[in-house]
Amino acid sequence: MNGNAIHHSCWVHSNPLTQRFDRLSATHTSNVAVVGGGITGLSTALELLHRGFSVAVYEAGIIGGGTTGGSTGHLDAHPEIGCGELLSKLGETAGREYVQLRQAAIAAIEHRAANYCDFTRVPGYYYSEHADDASSLRDECEAAARLGLPVEWCDKPPLQFATVGYRIDSMARMDSMAYLRRLTDLVVEAGGKIFEKSIARVSLEEQTRELSVGDGTAHFDHLVLAAHCNKSDSMLLDIETPAYQSYALLAEVANPPADGLFWDNSDPYFYTRRWGSASPNKIIVGGCDHRTGDGDTKQAQADLEEYVRQRFDVRSIESRWSAELFEPTDGLPMIGKVPGKENVWIATGLSGVGLTWGTAAGWLIADQIFRGSSTLQDALSPARLSVSAITGAVTEMAAPVKGMAQRILPAKKIDPVTLRPGEGAVGDVEGVHTAICRDKSGVLHRCDPVCTHMGGTVSWNEAEQTWDCPVHGGRFTNCGKRLYGPPEQDLQSPKTGKQ
Ligand SMILES: Cc1cc2nc3c(=O)[nH]c(=O)nc-3n(C[C@H](O)[C@H](O)[C@H](O)COP(=O)(O)OP(=O)(O)OC[C@H]3O[C@@H](n4cnc5c(N)ncnc54)[C@H](O)[C@@H]3O)c2cc1C
Ligand code: FES
Repeated sequence: MNGNAIHHSCWVHSNPLTQRFDRLSATHTSNVAVVGGGITGLSTALELLHRGFSVAVYEAGIIGGGTTGGSTGHLDAHPEIGCGELLSKLGETAGREYVQLRQAAIAAIEHRAANYCDFTRVPGYYYSEHADDASSLRDECEAAARLGLPVEWCDKPPLQFATVGYRIDSMARMDSMAYLRRLTDLVVEAGGKIFEKSIARVSLEEQTRELSVGDGTAHFDHLVLAAHCNKSDSMLLDIETPAYQSYALLAEVANPPADGLFWDNSDPYFYTRRWGSASPNKIIVGGCDHRTGDGDTKQAQADLEEYVRQRFDVRSIESRWSAELFEPTDGLPMIGKVPGKENVWIATGLSGVGLTWGTAAGWLIADQIFRGSSTLQDALSPARLSVSAITGAVTEMAAPVKGMAQRILPAKKIDPVTLRPGEGAVGDVEGVHTAICRDKSGVLHRCDPVCTHMGGTVSWNEAEQTWDCPVHGGRFTNCGKRLYGPPEQDLQSPKTGKQ
């Protein structure tokens, strides 16, 4: 992830993260305070500015350092949960509204930045490598047509290893970092204020009017939580939007596919696209998702590379990275008013399609603040709770429970001498419960493994050289500095005598 770990996305390589805006050091007052300067926060700020509100965006790190800068720049309107499932969940009318919102988001991005971010309209292809899947994919294709997606069945999608699937016209690809830069400029041109290196310490009342931010204080009438993760105090939202780690790489290949977005029907799915218009032989491939803090990160990275090498004639792998996403257990994003709060709004659980949902969240939240209602308000409300959400949430609780339980289980003994460069572990180091790692240059770092958000036990992410918390996806550097997710404090030093 970009500001978050050792690996930077291919966009950040060409658009390095540089601080453009000051840290908040005094009191700042605006109608609306937006926490988070990714695509969601900036899109919402822009929509609110266009409706006449004064807006300040508070970003903990640097614009682009979150998941938007680590995304793969696909813009599509296809439901991630599948078209048949979306129809059975929402019905045809609301299902069509869902698709229209995401199509409108693609059009909004095109309108705002087509000339700045290599925005290119391309078809999307949902495919299988197995001819046996033709019948189920045909059902999905029919459901997609009922949802209003411009689809056509393909006996052979234009990807070497795809056997069957369908095409969705008028999807798009872009350079995510270049788009964020353009969006930032638009917010400033519209009169918005942006503060970087300004973490908001979010503590919510029924009506919150001020927050401590950076070295100052933000005053506001409305608060928008656009931090990607759940920054509200709703525990239900925590369990409904578990954190996942997702992997991507940029490769130069001799045999690129046609210019399109390709994703398969496996779970978790793999996806492929060309990188940019000027380099047709470079492709981005992503996949191998797993729960944050509960998977073998090096293995996931290796599996993705193996997947690419088996399918393409690879000349070189140019970059590898991973980033975090929040997967709603019922498959729909959480966008709207925070339950139990009068003036606090949130967009989270945007899963792997948050470039379109983050954009749409802009006008959904702005409409709800400005005129009290929006399209799909109830279906996307963070206050909804369906039976399937509860069932999914219970299944998803396994990793957090494990993360919490590790605190009370006897810790395994670790001899620091046995740790090789790049390795880390949590356990009993000379009688002290410790998160210990040896960085790639051989230096040992020790921290208290208890996450400063709500007490989960962090685990070592060898691929990114970070400490990740399985409970809500908090992330820290190898020496315990806060990087991403809900925590607002660094990890502490190991506590002598604590096992
Ligand atoms: C590998 C990967 C590839 C993806 N590819 C795609 C894709 O191709 N297409 C697609 O549609 N979606 C994709 N997604 C999903 C998409 O990238 C995200 O859903 C989207 O970028 C989320 O945007 P955001 O603005 O909500 O979050 P972010 O971009 O993470 O922005 C949130 C910001 O909030 C800041 N913040 C957090 N806490 C605080 C605080 N307390 N105070 C102040 N600031 C704070 C963070 O520093 C961060 O900058 C991908 C996700 C991953 C992991
Ligand atoms: S306990 Fe919430 S992120 Fe660690």
